[in-house]
Amino acid sequence: MQNYELLNFKINGNATGKLVAIEALNQIPFEIKRIFYIYGVKGDAIRGRHSNRNSEFVMINVKGSADIRLHDGNKEHIVNLSKPNEGLYIPKLMWKDMYNFSDDCVMLVLSSEVYDENEYIRDFDEFLKEVSKNE
Ligand code: TYD
Repeated sequence: MQNYELLNFKINGNATGKLVAIEALNQIPFEIKRIFYIYGVKGDAIRGRHSNRNSEFVMINVKGSADIRLHDGNKEHIVNLSKPNEGLYIPKLMWKDMYNFSDDCVMLVLSSEVYDENEYIRDFDEFLKEVSKNE
């Protein structure tokens, strides 16, 4: 199975401020078909709680901080995202929970697919079954 990866983007900075540029198939390992962002999340909320059969993602906290718990069917991995020049690449068939959102967190998500509720697995046991079929 393909693994998750922390991506570091170049900061273009000068005395007036900073800029990070990310391009499909360059810094992002897929063609970007969808962008969404998550913000205004309550500190004790857990988002995600699903896996995707087809979509790959890159998550970027352009502001604030949050933790992402990934489960690949065998093992759990916890990643903190708190830098606007850092992205978390998440392959398909990875369970994800996002939590510990700071009040100011704006999580930008790039995806390889347009939204399709049918490719979401929202039951953890069903996820484990599908991962084991793919191994
Ligand atoms: P949901 O997947 O539950 O969000 P999270 O991963 O943060 O827990 O989605 C919340 C709502 O937004 C749900 O009604 C579906 C809708 N939605 C879209 O319409 N398009 C999208 O691309 C996404 C990710 C969600």
